[in-house]
Amino acid sequence: MEFNNLIYQKQGEIAVLSINRPKALNALNEELLQELNIAIDKICVDKEINVLILTGEGKSFVAGADITQMQKKTSDEARNFAELGMKVFRKIELMDTPVIAAVNGFALGGGCELALACDIRLASSKAKFGQPEVGLGITPGFGGTQRLPRIIGEAKAKELIFTGSMVDAETAKNIGLVNNVFEPDTLLDEAFKLAKKIAANGSLSVKYSKAAINKGLQMDLDSAMELEKDLFALCFASEQQKEGMAAFVEKRKPNFK
Ligand code: HXC
Repeated sequence: MEFNNLIYQKQGEIAVLSINRPKALNALNEELLQELNIAIDKICVDKEINVLILTGEGKSFVAGADITQMQKKTSDEARNFAELGMKVFRKIELMDTPVIAAVNGFALGGGCELALACDIRLASSKAKFGQPEVGLGITPGFGGTQRLPRIIGEAKAKELIFTGSMVDAETAKNIGLVNNVFEPDTLLDEAFKLAKKIAANGSLSVKYSKAAINKGLQMDLDSAMELEKDLFALCFASEQQKEGMAAFVEKRKPNFK
């Protein structure tokens, strides 16, 4: 896959998509979001891929939506722009494959929102997180007001969004915004390690677990339990369940296909 603003690599079951607009600190413009949309569509239909790592080139993960492109927008144009980003981020959130954000630097505004749409966030010790939109006279617009409180809780989310303050990676870890922090030069290796650990499991059961969590969180508990039961039962119609349990009984490592 060739793009102007993305670098795509595939290593076996693991795909890496790197935002590549370093001159503008990987700020998200419409072209980049359209490319991201196409890349995600292609990854979704590639049955070989079991984990996606999302990262950024240079010193930034993503420093937000492109302010120069947003500056002159009318309300209608701004709504369309928000809708485009929301659509792509939702696709990332709901895709079958788990997505790890390897946050290598600034994750601000739309960049923080992109990381929030991923399943797991790992950060470089140099990463900085924040929702600085109110300082620009706007609100977050790619889901930040919704995902941030769901992930770190209402009070902390309100503090971050109302102040527009940046937090460093350690603070982000302490408030539950990132899963783990690593030295900058080991971040991608650590993301791969995690990806491989996930990919060594039954891919179907990982995908069903992601669906159960994401969909279940939007349901009442009883309906969500029904969903879990259905997906659990569905596993028993798969070769992977047969292999996983046979391997346990035969005291060997499973060989999932
Ligand atoms: C456009 C951006 C940009 C952005 C950085 N650049 N962020 N361009 N949109 N979001 C550009 C700069 O203009 C500059 O271009 C180059 O990248 C390098 O940035 P510097 O500011 O020189 O770097 P530095 O001094 O290291 O400061 C880094 C920074 C700062 C703290 C991250 O760049 C910054 O505050 N950026 C904006 C962060 C932000 O407010 N993000 C939220 C955007 S709103 P030149 O040409 O001068 O070299 C948003 C809304 C989402 O995300 C929802 C939309 C619907």
